[in-house]
Amino acid sequence: MIGQAREWLAQAASVAVLTGAGISAESGIPTFRGAGGLWKNYKPEDLATAEAFGRDPRLVWEWYNWRRELIAKAAPNPAHLALAQLETRKPRFTLITQNVDGLHDRAGSRRILKLHGDIWRMRCTVCGANWPDRCAPLPRIPPHCHCGGLARPGVVWFGEPLPDGMMNEAEHAAASAEVFLVIGTSAVVYPAAGLVPYARQSGAKVIEINPESTPFSAMVGCALQAPAGELLPKLL
Ligand code: OAD
Repeated sequence: MIGQAREWLAQAASVAVLTGAGISAESGIPTFRGAGGLWKNYKPEDLATAEAFGRDPRLVWEWYNWRRELIAKAAPNPAHLALAQLETRKPRFTLITQNVDGLHDRAGSRRILKLHGDIWRMRCTVCGANWPDRCAPLPRIPPHCHCGGLARPGVVWFGEPLPDGMMNEAEHAAASAEVFLVIGTSAVVYPAAGLVPYARQSGAKVIEINPESTPFSAMVGCALQAPAGELLPKLL
């Protein structure tokens, strides 16, 4: 299996990759689902929706502040580093991530479509300003904009649209890829998960890396059941 995947990757000139929380698990960042997943102890509707933020911005910010502190202490692992390497070797390469942790940036990846935004950015709920902020912990909760308006995390919450035009770009990358790598995602959150069948129908060879099986494991060309940090460096 791994031999086949290695050969596909070596021969491909165009590669697209979809990553999820599992790629950062070996960096010590909890995933959302599965053993130890965040959604076991917290409810998305209390913390990751615009309604929750409207009800209790302080509570939502306390949770994001905790996650920012956790992520600030983490470092990219061999899987993030391997993808940054792969990008330098392929003429056409797109990294699509559902992660907001910024570990792909820190590993050196350049072309990243952050479908769910970035935990290190803030957005003003009044004037719409959008700025980077790496303070962890935050000096003041909830944070505010220079205009005095309440700031929100620069992430996409449940029920919100993805950043303008980004899904189109992701679909274009998936459709034109010879190899589509799916790494560390439970593949249950849409529209991101839809990229997997879309890539396959468009003719890509799909390789999944995940210690657990997902709704797409049976239909991908190659499902490699192992932790990404161990397996990806071997694949390249
Ligand atoms: P999930 O937490 O749903 O899934 C993580 C996946 O990673 C699972 O399938 C695990 O089996 C797998 N995994 C765990 N350790 C791994 C490892 N070392 N190597 C490879 N895979 C591993 O995370 P996502 O699929 O990213 O959205 O979740 C999608 C979205 O749901 C998130 O972006 C977030 C969440 O709620 C929003 O907040 C909008």
